[in-house]
Amino acid sequence: MTFRAASDQIEVPAGVGLTAVGMAWVRARESARRDRLFDDPYAEAFVEAAGGPAAAGPAGAFARFIDVVDSHGVQRTRFFDDYLTRAADDGQRQLVLLAAGLDTRAYRLSWPAGTRLFEVDLPEMLTFKQAVLDTRHATARAERVTVPADLAGDWATALTRAGLRPRERTTWLVEGLLPYLDADQAGRLLTTVGELSAPGSLLGFEYQSADTRLLDELRATPELAEFATLLKGGLDEPALTWLPRHGWQVLRARLRAELATESGRLAPGPLVDGFLVAIRR
Ligand SMILES: C[S@@+](CC[C@H](N)C(=O)[O-])C[C@H]1O[C@@H](n2cnc3c(N)ncnc32)[C@H](O)[C@@H]1O
Repeated sequence: MTFRAASDQIEVPAGVGLTAVGMAWVRARESARRDRLFDDPYAEAFVEAAGGPAAAGPAGAFARFIDVVDSHGVQRTRFFDDYLTRAADDGQRQLVLLAAGLDTRAYRLSWPAGTRLFEVDLPEMLTFKQAVLDTRHATARAERVTVPADLAGDWATALTRAGLRPRERTTWLVEGLLPYLDADQAGRLLTTVGELSAPGSLLGFEYQSADTRLLDELRATPELAEFATLLKGGLDEPALTWLPRHGWQVLRARLRAELATESGRLAPGPLVDGFLVAIRR
C-alpha cells in the first residue's frame, strides 16, 4: 500500500514507518463498518495526516494483496485487543507494545487503575503519532510511556530506563514487526523479551507458515516491489517450535482463516498466517 506525500505540518515516517500508516488505514476502514470488530476513532486522523492512500493500483495481484492485508489486519487487531484486555482483567498491569506504530489501544480500550503501557518504536514514528493525537486532544486511559528505540539494536536499556520492572510480570505484544527484521534480529529480539520476562509473563505475536506464495507474488508485482524490499523474513524457524525451546509455553494459536470464518468474514488467501499467545515458564 502506498501513501501520498507528507502533510505540510507533520512529518510522516518513511520506509517501514509507512506500514504503520497502512495498518491505520485498515483500522479506519473497519471502524467505519456497521458490523465492525473494533472501533479506532483515531485511525482516520493518522491516514489523513499522512496524505491519505494513493489512488488504488490496478486490479490483479495488487487488489488481492490489499484484501489479504485487510483481512489479516482486522483479525489481528481484534485477536490482540482480546488478548490485552484479558491479560489486564487477569491482573497484568505492565504491558509493552514493541513496534507500537499507530496503535491507539492506550486510548481506545479501557484499562484498570494502575496499568502502565509502554510503546516502543522509532523516534520519528512516535513523534508523528503524538503530533496527530495532540490535534485530536486524545487522552490515554492508562499510564502511557513512549520509548523511542531501534528494535534491531539495544532497546532493552531504553525500556528499563523508562521504567519497565523486569521482576514483575509483563504482557508483551510484538505486532507487525517480525517480518521486517531478519532472522538474527528477530531471534535476538524475542530472546531479549524472554530475558526481561518474569514467570507468568505473556507474549503475543503473529506467525506465518513457511508458505512463500504471497511473498513471491509481491516481489513479482511492480507496484508492490518497494514494499517487498522491506520484508526481511523474521524468525527462520516456526514460532510454534521456537517458543517452547526458549522458555515459553504456547497457550493459544489461531489461524486468521478460522477467525475470519467465525466472524462471518471472507478469508482471502493464501491462508498461512495466524496469531498466538504464549506464557513464560
Ligand atoms: C506494520 S507496522 C505495525 C505497527 C503496529 N504494531 C500495528 O500493528 O499497527 C510496523 C512498525 O514497526 C516499526 N519498526 C520497524 N522496524 C523497527 C525498528 N528497527 N525499530 C523500531 N521500530 C521498528 C515501524 O516503525 C512500524 O511502526
